[in-house]
Amino acid sequence: MLTYKIKYQKQVFNCKHDETLIDAFNRHGIVVNFSCRKGSCHACMMHCKSGTIPKVSQKGLDTEFISNNYFLPCSCTPTSDMTVDNVESNFLYQPAIIHSKEVLSANICRILIDPGDTFNYKPGQYINLKRISDNTIRSYSLVSHPDDYFLEIHVKKMPSGKLSSWIFNELNTGDEIEFQGAMGDSYYEQVNSTNTPLILTGRGTGIAPLYGILLDALKNSHHAQLTILHEGRTVEDLYLQNQLTSLETKHSNVKYIACVDNSNNKQTLPHSARTILENTIDELIANPPNIFTAGSPDFTASIKTLFRNHNIPDKNIFLDSFDYKNLRDEKQKNIFEVGRRKNDPATIIQKPATKQALSRDDEMWHALGEGKKLKLILDDFYSQVYKDDKLSGFFQNSTQQRSSEKQYLFMRQIFTGEKVYFGDRPKNAHHWMVISDELFDYREKLLSQCLKKHGLAEHLIERWVNIDNTFRKDIVKQTPFPKIVNGIEMPLDGYEEIKIDEGTLCDACHNAIEKGETVRYHLRLGLTYCPHCMEEELPEQAV
Ligand code: FES
Repeated sequence: MLTYKIKYQKQVFNCKHDETLIDAFNRHGIVVNFSCRKGSCHACMMHCKSGTIPKVSQKGLDTEFISNNYFLPCSCTPTSDMTVDNVESNFLYQPAIIHSKEVLSANICRILIDPGDTFNYKPGQYINLKRISDNTIRSYSLVSHPDDYFLEIHVKKMPSGKLSSWIFNELNTGDEIEFQGAMGDSYYEQVNSTNTPLILTGRGTGIAPLYGILLDALKNSHHAQLTILHEGRTVEDLYLQNQLTSLETKHSNVKYIACVDNSNNKQTLPHSARTILENTIDELIANPPNIFTAGSPDFTASIKTLFRNHNIPDKNIFLDSFDYKNLRDEKQKNIFEVGRRKNDPATIIQKPATKQALSRDDEMWHALGEGKKLKLILDDFYSQVYKDDKLSGFFQNSTQQRSSEKQYLFMRQIFTGEKVYFGDRPKNAHHWMVISDELFDYREKLLSQCLKKHGLAEHLIERWVNIDNTFRKDIVKQTPFPKIVNGIEMPLDGYEEIKIDEGTLCDACHNAIEKGETVRYHLRLGLTYCPHCMEEELPEQAV
């Protein structure tokens, strides 16, 4: 039988002419990273030092990876002898901090991740999340929008899921993880016209990327009909009902339908997502739509087949198939995150009862008088900071009022989830400041005393301090950090003129600066000057 010789680190083994490299690694008992085995997740990526790389094993990789001879062993059936090696982890993965974890339903939780630096992606794409202790990797779709401060993923707890159980039971706010991405080609920018109807059909946590795509469509003023259909195995799977119902109420072109594939739900009509689509197919395809579907492979394949059979071309159908989330250690019967019960009749629920909308921290925001008390606390806190010998030096380029206002917007965004803060991330805002652990603790003590003075409950003070502590790694350092924006190291000092893509306030006159205006920006201090003030002679800033 034809075989090829594979060299991997100090080992040499053979690979059959009709097997993939991943299968050969497994057959020889050599442990390497992999997850989906289908070229989707990129978890298995390796570097080829010699030999021929089959083109198909580089499908979907960035040109930078392709030109440097990286490839995916799970899609590589060798055509020559090869010498291969692992990819340096820090080449593929970047560190990030868990900002918060919130349970959305009995088996689904929302994780907010602080990527530290600016991270470019499109809503609907996915990232690989790695547990640092043992390099276990799983892929999760991004629900957030690039304008959001944090990356948001929704994790479904699997009965024997190695990573999902860990995320549910052990992962805590402030923990460090690594992630890789973003990947996937199922996102709104694929749509050519805002006049094309969109049909978004997801099962289980498949709703997560579709929700991100829906929000992106609305941000882009999509005119045509936006139909979002969520199928759950049980009612508990329908976890974004409030948000989707509220979007349907606000936007006349949004239609939200939820259905449950559960025979016990007697009061509702017997339908599955596919049946609902079949029953209205003529209406749905009258103006040829774009289809986005996400969930288990059998679900997405079934939706694709339905539209294909009605002459919707493949280029209009975007699949986010969760086969890359397989539990590789589990038996085949457990292989998909969402197991479809084919023989159960399905049921439909229209317009679920509205519950109180989820927010980041309702209890905290309420205790802070919906912001009024937060303002008082921060004004008081910064009046102390500006008088403090140890801390005041870090603020001499900004007024007390400005610092208090900026911090108000930052904390309000954290407590409410509203997008109100447009400043730098803590890592970039503090990149030039040499701050010790002792100084960080000192500031934290001052803050705790101030929160206590204003009557905030002990457990809320602890929660606030815990949030502050998630930024400790970004702020405490012996020497200045480089400032990284879009992966590029910025100069550490001086001014630059830039066009802003979010409105903000001038740091000199405090007037509003509109999105799209050219401003003068201090690279080290992050101070922004409006077109009027930038013409004034600005002194070189020093601390
Ligand atoms: S791409 Fe190879 S295991 Fe996922």
